[in-house]
Amino acid sequence: MENILVTGGAGFIGSSFVKLMLDLHPDYKIINIDVLTYAGNLETLKTVSDNPNYIFIKVDIRDREKVDEIFSTYKIDTVVNFAAESHVDRSIEEPEIFLSTNVIGTQVLLDVAKKHWKVNPEDKYCREYKSGVKFLQVSTDEVYGSLGKTGMFVETMSLMPNSPYSASKASADMVVRAYHETFGMPINITRCSNNYGPYQFPEKLIPLMINSCLKEKKLPVYGDGMQIRDWLHVSDHCTGIDTVLHKGRDGEIYNIGGNNEKANIEIVKLIIKTLGKSENLITYVKDRPGHDRRYAIDNTKITTELGWNPKYNFDQGMKDTLSWYLNNTEWIENIVSGDYTKYYEKMYANSSEKNNEIDNQK
Ligand code: NAD
Ligand code: TYD
Repeated sequence: MENILVTGGAGFIGSSFVKLMLDLHPDYKIINIDVLTYAGNLETLKTVSDNPNYIFIKVDIRDREKVDEIFSTYKIDTVVNFAAESHVDRSIEEPEIFLSTNVIGTQVLLDVAKKHWKVNPEDKYCREYKSGVKFLQVSTDEVYGSLGKTGMFVETMSLMPNSPYSASKASADMVVRAYHETFGMPINITRCSNNYGPYQFPEKLIPLMINSCLKEKKLPVYGDGMQIRDWLHVSDHCTGIDTVLHKGRDGEIYNIGGNNEKANIEIVKLIIKTLGKSENLITYVKDRPGHDRRYAIDNTKITTELGWNPKYNFDQGMKDTLSWYLNNTEWIENIVSGDYTKYYEKMYANSSEKNNEIDNQK
């Protein structure tokens, strides 16, 4: 492993992974390709932009010709595919781009990797690959669907995605698996629970609540706020991916989770309390259609087989995250403009109306 193609490395998790890899493995070259959608932000990578082992190229993963050229130029031997449309609410508004980026984009990457990595690319039955190559697909626990009050997601469960986002990620997982089964490609898939930490785009629960709370704006809680997510600090997610990259058995899927189940309303109240604001800011709005009730990751496979463990406990992780957002208001201000402001207004313009609807149902 020498030349790692990281896709979507200007996003929340990808940028954290790029920095971790440059830190942990000074002998690797990191080639980051990202098309810079609303969620991509090069500001996040300012500290590594001059690192001689780091290259950024603005490319759409669906652009086969450019991806192919990058494989040739940089002799790519490893792919870590983060690039995706990642927000469930946006997938409900506009599903098509999710299918296009998350499924077709992944298939283009697999195809180009297969062409460059097969010992004999002309022979469709050749299952022999150059040594040390790997394609790692970064997936999500949302592909498993929704849990009831008990139980946890394990890697062998069948996939039951409920949103256009999770359906697109599940489809991509299936395609990656098929390239392993049919073409013998060396792959791993990681499925992770909800991430939190610095540099997360403020449309996701935690940064949205912090940002709105600081500005004393209403805090839109969907439905009854009792949906449960299993939170993992982004840096733990990245060490998990690094572990799978180096130690994961060929063709295997690994869940990555931090054993931190919390109801949304608990998180919102924690943020309000820490920032010394009033719970009157909480505004219950109409529930997300098809809203998954509970996620919980069983991480036994990665912890016992590969020896990975999360380092953060949730209280410390949230303390650090809150203080990062308090100290980096400029980063958020630069983001909370343009497209995001329009999106926020569209999503929450009727929140008081929705609030009345929900109040009337009580
Ligand atoms: P993000 O939205 O912050 O970043 C996605 C990045 O992909 C952005 O920089 C964007 O510009 C880029 N991108 C989008 N379309 C592209 C295209 N066609 N070509 C090239 N680049 C493109 O997302 P994130 O939260 O960092 O998530 C990264 C990955 O991890 C995604 O695959 C997501 O499904 C998965 N994941 C996220 C979470 C989470 O809690 N955030 C949890 C589990 C899994
Ligand atoms: P989100 O951060 O969008 O992640 P995901 O949908 O991938 O789990 O949302 C986390 C939880 O928070 C989810 O149950 C939806 C809920 N939520 C709200 O209640 N209000 C909000 O404004 C947002 C963005 C999310």
